[in-house]
Amino acid sequence: MLVTTQHRGTPNVMTNGFNMMVRHPRPLVACTMGPWDHNHQALVETGEGVISIPTADMAATVVDIGNCSGADVDKFAEFDLTAVAGAEVQAPLVAGCFANIECKVADSSLVAPYNLFLREPVRAWTDRSQTQPQLFHHRGDGTFTLDGPTIDLKERMTKWQYLL
Ligand SMILES: Cc1cc2nc3c(=O)[nH]c(=O)nc-3n(C[C@H](O)[C@H](O)[C@H](O)COP(=O)(O)O)c2cc1C
Repeated sequence: MLVTTQHRGTPNVMTNGFNMMVRHPRPLVACTMGPWDHNHQALVETGEGVISIPTADMAATVVDIGNCSGADVDKFAEFDLTAVAGAEVQAPLVAGCFANIECKVADSSLVAPYNLFLREPVRAWTDRSQTQPQLFHHRGDGTFTLDGPTIDLKERMTKWQYLL
């Protein structure tokens, strides 16, 4: 996924592969962002940002975004990304992404030991024109898995009906 911030008036975006759902229905999302990332300090100082979910057609650009720093380049200009104003945070949404999730940092206690930010979504947007978005998932070594067929096992989710 992509993570945007707005720090001292400047928007920035980075690529983030180490992330996970932590909790629902009051959701929390955890992202590992190291101090080598310009966005790390931006998130520490502002406490807010956006998680943007790109589609497979954006994969090469997403990798390129993760190979340069907002400390050196304006990545929105460099990669021809369109920043869109959100509602709850200063950081921009990224146009063209299937989803954009505005987040506040909910807990910073794991940042020092693990570079792990626990982030609480405060507003989520989806691009309804993308009816069958194909997402992609980092395998950790520069290879990616694309979304494939969906199998429906809802009838077996007997203990978890509230999720369906
Ligand atoms: C596929 C991919 C996944 C990445 N995942 C992470 C990650 O989970 N955490 C992290 O700190 N950096 C990750 N990076 C590296 C950052 O995106 C990279 O350091 C980037 O330059 C940071 O941008 P910034 O300095 O503008 O914040 C990843 C890079 C790529 C290409």
